[in-house]
Amino acid sequence: MSTVLDPEVAVVRPAARLRGTLRLPGDKSISHRALLFAALADGESRITAAGDGADVRSTAGIVRVLGATVERVRETGGTVDYRVVSPGVDGLAEPVGILDCGNSGTSLRLTAGVLAGLPMYAVLDGDASLRRRPVARIIAPLRTMGAVLHARRTDTLPPLTVVGRAPLRSVDYQTPVPSAQVKSSILLAALRAEGRTTVRESVGTRDHTERMLRARGIDVRREETSAGVAWSLEGGRRVQSVDERVPGDVSAAAFWLVGGAIHSDADLTLRDVGLNPSRRAIIDLLRAMGASIAGDAGVVDDGVGEPLADLTVHSSDLRGIDIGPREVAAAIDEIPILCLAASQASGTTRIRGAGELRHKESDRIAGIAAGLRALGADVDVDGDDITITGRQALRGATTDSLDDHRLAMTFAVAGLIAEGETVVSRPGSASISYPGFFADLEGVRA
Ligand code: S3P
Repeated sequence: MSTVLDPEVAVVRPAARLRGTLRLPGDKSISHRALLFAALADGESRITAAGDGADVRSTAGIVRVLGATVERVRETGGTVDYRVVSPGVDGLAEPVGILDCGNSGTSLRLTAGVLAGLPMYAVLDGDASLRRRPVARIIAPLRTMGAVLHARRTDTLPPLTVVGRAPLRSVDYQTPVPSAQVKSSILLAALRAEGRTTVRESVGTRDHTERMLRARGIDVRREETSAGVAWSLEGGRRVQSVDERVPGDVSAAAFWLVGGAIHSDADLTLRDVGLNPSRRAIIDLLRAMGASIAGDAGVVDDGVGEPLADLTVHSSDLRGIDIGPREVAAAIDEIPILCLAASQASGTTRIRGAGELRHKESDRIAGIAAGLRALGADVDVDGDDITITGRQALRGATTDSLDDHRLAMTFAVAGLIAEGETVVSRPGSASISYPGFFADLEGVRA
């Protein structure tokens, strides 16, 4: 074993070569939504190859507490098949205890949207990291729709209480920050509103909710405006139960796309990677940096299902690029691993307007800068902008993951090319989104 893993630290040693074929965990965003839609639909829904990280398990737990039967039919490492049987939206039960979202902001914000339209009292809570995540951004629109929500610190931080009501009022709402979680929360509430609800976003964010609503019989309209994108739906509609096959998580694939590109002797294949246009920015950004990634030519997108393909990545000669707020929003979860790519690229990479990264599972701007600097990278932070001067040889050091899965995996991938031993603190957080990550890290060492 070249990686030593205990609950406190992982020690990663450099790999001579990277080879192999990986099957990634099921997409986390789609898995959360598939479970919530299964709870809203009457009867049985089957979900194949859902992500089996702790975050998706939190949503599965919530759906159970709300009164649906959630059965784990088959487990295969990073993925799980679920069979959900629900009494339907009007048969869901008021939770007796708190709804535990664990580390998962998506569980909290999307479930709040569902609860807003249910006449019951519920409390959403989670771990120490979740209790630092902003909730005012969902409280404002859901209150306008008629639900009663409160949170700690003058309605800004979890725990969050929701007293829902049916029917809700429809809204026409402009999201203050680009956020698929906020947009989805409102669209889920909109199903229980009278009239047409419109959510406007200045920058398009992931559209899984919209696609899944369409697949479940809801007419979701998309309109491009001078100010961005507007999504709308007519309330008072029921979602049909639909079986869902979840593609591999492109955000998990990103660790290997970067790992392969920055390693001097790499040839990796990633199976069934989700290539939804609103999620694939990381692939396009890496290509703009010169990464050798293939496999997605000819992939067809019908705007309802989720396109996918096998991707291959080879060692690449990367160069720095400029990344603006629009690309940051489109690759929001991949910015940490992209910073590692930038540290190995020729020239300078500038990432502007990355402030939302400070409100994730940790302050990811501070965390990535500290960890990459410890390894010898040249990282400069100015407010919400990050500048990385590349081609710095990394040398093993101790990095702090801040108990954040995406930082833990970024520093572990850095360890594959850094000289000596790279120590990653609290590596177990990888299992939030990618339970098999460290096994795959071992597997790809030729
Ligand atoms: C997610 C949206 C993003 C992302 C998160 C998952 C989703 O959050 O960071 O990991 O599934 O909708 P925001 O929409 O709050 O930026």
